[in-house]
Amino acid sequence: MTGAERPAFGVYVHWPFCLSKCPYCDFNSHVRHGAIDEHRFARAFAREIETTAARAGGREVSSIFLGGGTPSLMRPETVGAVLDAIAKHWRVADDVEVTLEANPTSVEAARFAGYRSAGVNRVSLGVQALDDASLKQLGRLHTAREALDAVAIARKAFARYSFDLIYARPDQTPHAWASELELAIKEAAEHLSLYQLTIEEGTPFFGLHAAGKLKTPDELLARALYDVTQEVCGRHGLPAYEISNHARKGAQCRHNLVYWRGDEYAGIGPGAHGRLDINGTRRAIATEKRPEAWLMRVEANGHGIVTDDVLSRVERADEFLLMGLRLAEGIDPKRYAALAGRSLDPRRIALLREEGAIAVEADGRLRVTQAGFPVLDAVVADLAA
Ligand SMILES: C[S@@+](CC[C@H](N)C(=O)[O-])C[C@H]1O[C@@H](n2cnc3c(N)ncnc32)[C@H](O)[C@@H]1O
Ligand code: SF4
Repeated sequence: MTGAERPAFGVYVHWPFCLSKCPYCDFNSHVRHGAIDEHRFARAFAREIETTAARAGGREVSSIFLGGGTPSLMRPETVGAVLDAIAKHWRVADDVEVTLEANPTSVEAARFAGYRSAGVNRVSLGVQALDDASLKQLGRLHTAREALDAVAIARKAFARYSFDLIYARPDQTPHAWASELELAIKEAAEHLSLYQLTIEEGTPFFGLHAAGKLKTPDELLARALYDVTQEVCGRHGLPAYEISNHARKGAQCRHNLVYWRGDEYAGIGPGAHGRLDINGTRRAIATEKRPEAWLMRVEANGHGIVTDDVLSRVERADEFLLMGLRLAEGIDPKRYAALAGRSLDPRRIALLREEGAIAVEADGRLRVTQAGFPVLDAVVADLAA
């Protein structure tokens, strides 16, 4: 079978530590003032990989993603040990994509060659902004210069790299964002992730926002910023293939496509999520979030799983719809019908088409339009109802 025909199977590995907590971030990331015992974590990752592969063997790994937290705080030897454990317990495709998320500081960029030797072949850098005032406001530990230097080092070390920017930041104008994006595109090779700032409950930004001390763009301005994003990226050959992800032709992040296309993936490490088909049913799996509690569970039981739910047909189909409609390629309604045991309601499809929120392609695929993307949640809710 060729790579295109083989079912995709991803392995996600979560490194849960950061040097400091950014005030907007609600990911499972923790700051520790003492040293982290990487040997102990590496052993626990290997153990959880072994247990997961025993349960879901016979797959060929097409992508691996080391995410965080800040995986670029791991020593290259730790990354190597994780990749070796994956290769010991699963077959790994010759053309496997191995991405590591990195923060763009000079200390971390110095490890890029070591990561490459360990088997990483793609990095995703959290640049976030290209002006120092915004970076300071976002609580980042790097300057724009430092971030661009890290991008240059990534370019030398890896054939493939991407970086993240956050937009719809306080006081950001469409004009300023367009210039920032033009600069970013000059530095980006093939892939950019462009996220609108979201205000997450429990973060310092949430409190500031609620108190009126942090003003984010209203709906109209947010829409204008989104439109600028599509226009500038489209003009430079980096159209959106997913609501927040832009790539040149053929340069999509294969690992993230696993999530959005509803394929299987294993989640390893504290707070990791997985979706595995076992005995003909899809299971939604999640591990213990707290790093030290996860370690103890793995050492005692061989895994850190705290949630292991069988998804019903409808839940599975709704998830397929929710994830698949984020993609520009959309979904195959026949696959939805096979999963759900019923078709999507043709009257709802007709109505959403009339409103211009969705389109149906000649081959029958259903996709959200440029106009529909800003109201994606409502479109999905309507279709799934
Ligand atoms: C889990 S973070 C890990 C990346 C890495 N630790 C870093 O910060 O560079 C992945 C990405 O999510 C995005 N992100 C996190 N919180 C966000 C928020 N509240 N709004 C928009 N984007 C956010 C950032 O762009 C970040 O690079
Ligand atoms: S944005 Fe990245 S560096 Fe900042 S707290 Fe979240 S995971 Fe850590």
